[in-house]
Amino acid sequence: MKVLVIGSGGREHAIVEAISRSPKATKIYAAPGNAGIAQLAECVAIKDTDVERLVAFAKENNIELTVVGPEAALAVGVVDRFREEGLNIFGPTKAATEIESSKDFAKRLMVKYDVPTAAYATFSDFDAALDYVKQGSLPTVLKYDGLAAGKGVVIAQTMEEAEATLRDMLLDTKFGEGRVVIEEFLTGEEFSLMCFVAGNKICPMPVAQDHKRAYDNDEGPNTGGMGAYTELPFITADDHAYAMERIMQRVADAMVAEGTPFTGVLYGGLMKTPNGIKVIEFNARFGDPETEVVLPRLKSDAVDLFMAVAKGEQPAAEWSEGATLGIVLASKGYPGSYDKGAVIRGIENVESKIYHMGTAIKDGALVTAGGRVMIVVAEAPTLREAQQRAQEDIAKIECDNLFHRTDIGNKAFR
Ligand code: AMP
Ligand code: GLY
Repeated sequence: MKVLVIGSGGREHAIVEAISRSPKATKIYAAPGNAGIAQLAECVAIKDTDVERLVAFAKENNIELTVVGPEAALAVGVVDRFREEGLNIFGPTKAATEIESSKDFAKRLMVKYDVPTAAYATFSDFDAALDYVKQGSLPTVLKYDGLAAGKGVVIAQTMEEAEATLRDMLLDTKFGEGRVVIEEFLTGEEFSLMCFVAGNKICPMPVAQDHKRAYDNDEGPNTGGMGAYTELPFITADDHAYAMERIMQRVADAMVAEGTPFTGVLYGGLMKTPNGIKVIEFNARFGDPETEVVLPRLKSDAVDLFMAVAKGEQPAAEWSEGATLGIVLASKGYPGSYDKGAVIRGIENVESKIYHMGTAIKDGALVTAGGRVMIVVAEAPTLREAQQRAQEDIAKIECDNLFHRTDIGNKAFR
């Protein structure tokens, strides 16, 4: 079977690798792919949002299954177009993607179907929003209602910061025309529960935890994710059952009831608060970097699994025992501005898996080409061993323009 993976990050590298383990995949293409993916797949230079060229490529090359990584491709309706052409594709329709692309849609759905989440209100008017914030308590959570590449959420500690943020979002339309969702500030341990979803049929993946801040001890600016691990000791079997029933299954059912059934990966960004598990956000796709620590544990055939979801059948997956831990190497300066083109040496000495996020080949050498550059993922019987292996391996990589966090996974040991 010929398979196409859309996207170019570490997430897509992990998806391509999982597919490459399936004997059913005779040929894998990636659009546009990256330097790491190129070792497993043929990369074709088509942008992830260039829907018409993707459709044409799939038809010309008899692609039997397409798997979508990035939200940008989903949000422009790549799944709708592939389906119109009768092509098998793994991912949600544009309408179902709203659960990620519109915070207000997600919130209204949760309230209507009694899914636990932070209290909220939505505003398009600056003065009304400011009044609401003034009547509430601090810190307060301000979310731009639309895709903002992970930068649309501000936790304002002071009234001045809240006002400046509302001004940016509503008056100066920094992210574009859009409303603001103002939320109650919750506290607790965050975790990611991703499920394969085909309408009301769902199947969970191992629970993972992302590390969104740039520096150790969760300091510094928010990033796309600086590392992740699987098996979270603080999420009990009861927590898991509650999250599956009261959140993930309920939302899958709700999407069917609303006439926008979900197919693909439904990502629950959840928090274990003193008042129970609550939803922070949903994503309509595989998480990054969670996917890089979750898919290495997939024992089932990835092609069968993705195809079942694409066809609306019950997905089933088996996972290996043990733990995984991944540490991201990012360009110095990320998530702000950074230089590209620094030579990376020593990855051949690394025993862990490496997924490329932003690399390129220049004059035969591997060089940095993005903010997040690669993720080193170790697998081991215990999380402590996985952490140690990942840290040992990362020390073998030489590059003068990279940094990483040294505390990935520590929250599991508290
Ligand atoms: P989001 O893009 O919605 O995942 O938000 C980014 C980050 O902001 C989350 O990972 C949380 O750490 C934090 N956050 C979002 N909403 C809340 C909330 N209601 N209470 C506390 N923290 C939040
Ligand atoms: N790891 C968070 C995300 O994929 O949005």
